[in-house]
Amino acid sequence: MNNLDLINFFDSVEDDSLKVLKGLDSKTQKKINSKYFYDEKGSILFDKITKLDDYYPTKIECEILEKNKDHLKKKLPSNSVVIEFGSGSNNKIKKLMEAIDKPIEYIPIDISKEFLFKNAKDSAKDFPDLKIKAICADFNQIDMLQKIIGKKKSKIGFFPGSTVGNYSPEDAKKLLINFSRILGNESFLVIGVDLKKDREVLEKAYNDSEGLTAEFNKNILNGVNKICGTIFDSTLFSHKAFFNEKKSRIEMHLVSKKKQVVEILNTKIYFREGETIHTENSYKYSVSSFQNLAELSNFEIIDVLKDKKSFFGVFIMKVKSI
Ligand code: SAH
Ligand code: AVI
Repeated sequence: MNNLDLINFFDSVEDDSLKVLKGLDSKTQKKINSKYFYDEKGSILFDKITKLDDYYPTKIECEILEKNKDHLKKKLPSNSVVIEFGSGSNNKIKKLMEAIDKPIEYIPIDISKEFLFKNAKDSAKDFPDLKIKAICADFNQIDMLQKIIGKKKSKIGFFPGSTVGNYSPEDAKKLLINFSRILGNESFLVIGVDLKKDREVLEKAYNDSEGLTAEFNKNILNGVNKICGTIFDSTLFSHKAFFNEKKSRIEMHLVSKKKQVVEILNTKIYFREGETIHTENSYKYSVSSFQNLAELSNFEIIDVLKDKKSFFGVFIMKVKSI
């Protein structure tokens, strides 16, 4: 395919092992960074989760994009490069592309290499006239991304799925400031944000009746085994997800079913029965709390698109001139 360029910048191994060890070798709450969910199996599991009845965000975000195509077209610039952060499957980009006038290039960025490259190949077939440059990288690798993407052209960033919610508000601010630097002055960002709602709806979305979220949660240990050479047995952990009202976030944990020891980089990690590893946060915002965060992160809000129940928000934002 002439219109496709696949670039791999995601090198890990030793540095990642140290980071994982730091999170687990802790006197307080053990943690694993949620980005380690996404090996190929994790990406496929997440994609299946998005199709479950219990997991509402993806369906609602797609409906919002579909319904507001004409509106988006009026707000977003023509002849732009479209950059998708944490692209995952290529379902949503199809919807956004219908709402953009004459896009000149599509750059999906994701850490999940096999999944990214497969979806980029599909996108190259879906959009034969569009240049596609898939970059396997951590979207925090800002200097490298700035270098590859370049400064000149008008850009539209796309950050759907409420992946921003997987960062604490403080880290989300840093991430958005980095995105504003990659995008450049006067560029746009279309970002999906899951909104605060009843505990019952939220907890059902992360404890689905088919057990796919539990499988996704446990799969992080398989990802860690591959990266760090550990021998975690994921069957010795159970899934736990609940809404932490005070922090306005869903927390996912893995609960050790028994006393056990796992070795990483020659260090023994001890687990008590019932002790948990905190694997993910998924922050839920009000429209105003996200607006405040965005304003502090180098963006001005142009518009907020919501569904009827206000379950999910798609924010159209513009990078403030520096
Ligand atoms: N945008 C898609 C997928 C969301 S899942 C959707 O809306 O459905 C989160 C995606 O972000 C996954 O594909 C995961 O591999 C990717 N991801 C998570 N952390 C990342 C990071 N630090 N850098 C790049 N991609 C990341
Ligand atoms: C990718 N991210 C926004 C999802 C979420 O809802 O926080 C990941 C996920 N975790 C469990 N289910 C889905």
